[in-house]
Amino acid sequence: MSLRTPLVVAIDGPSGSGKSTVSRRVAAHLGLAYLDTGAMYRAATWWCLERGVDLDDAAAVTAAVHAMVLDLDVNPRFPSFAVDGSDVGVAIRAPEISSLVSRIATNLDVRADLGARQRRVIDLECTPDGFSGGRGIVVEGRDITTVIAPDADVRLLLTASEEARLARRARELHGAADAAAVAATRDQVVGRDAQDSTVVEFRTAADGVVTVDSSGLDLEQTVEAVLEQVERMAGR
Ligand code: DC
Repeated sequence: MSLRTPLVVAIDGPSGSGKSTVSRRVAAHLGLAYLDTGAMYRAATWWCLERGVDLDDAAAVTAAVHAMVLDLDVNPRFPSFAVDGSDVGVAIRAPEISSLVSRIATNLDVRADLGARQRRVIDLECTPDGFSGGRGIVVEGRDITTVIAPDADVRLLLTASEEARLARRARELHGAADAAAVAATRDQVVGRDAQDSTVVEFRTAADGVVTVDSSGLDLEQTVEAVLEQVERMAGR
């Protein structure tokens, strides 16, 4: 497919919609950079814990995040995040981080700081100096289509029924989607989204944002559905 260059594809959606995996695949397929903004909130949480910052002290959290040296690799085949020189790719997926990250992500000063960093990455990928050589980027996360990149060429809300999202996360975390595994996952998926949605709306599509519902689709089919939308909106 022949696409507009540079191309910015913004994808948001709730937990368990498959946005990270799908975005990464789409970026690799199109030769674009890939940015997982949720990983930045996770890295910020890891950093605050590492530094012993009291998460109830909003000003201290903001100051710590401000001082965080975050290096990221936007290669969709090997995305990586390093804080202060340490690779945090595995550490930021720990359950402790998953259960605390909303506390950081609902701090509006932290959102402003990380949002500015995200915009800089997007801008760089639209120049020859970026990883993509100016081809563009797929960027995903809760407020990307609305707050961070409202002018993106393609804006998608990747969603799925609560049942489908719970089953996926249960399989990811517990290797099964039986009743016990789904119950153990419910709080992570539904609870975290409820908390995050107090500061950003990502459950309904804003004007100009196209919804892709992956409830009945497997990964390949979802990637196909997203690629179709990209071609429809940015093909030439
Ligand atoms: O997608 P994830 O689970 O890795 O996201 C981690 C947390 O960060 C989650 O609580 C949602 C939040 N987040 C956000 O508020 N804004 C973003 N752009 C990305 C993630």
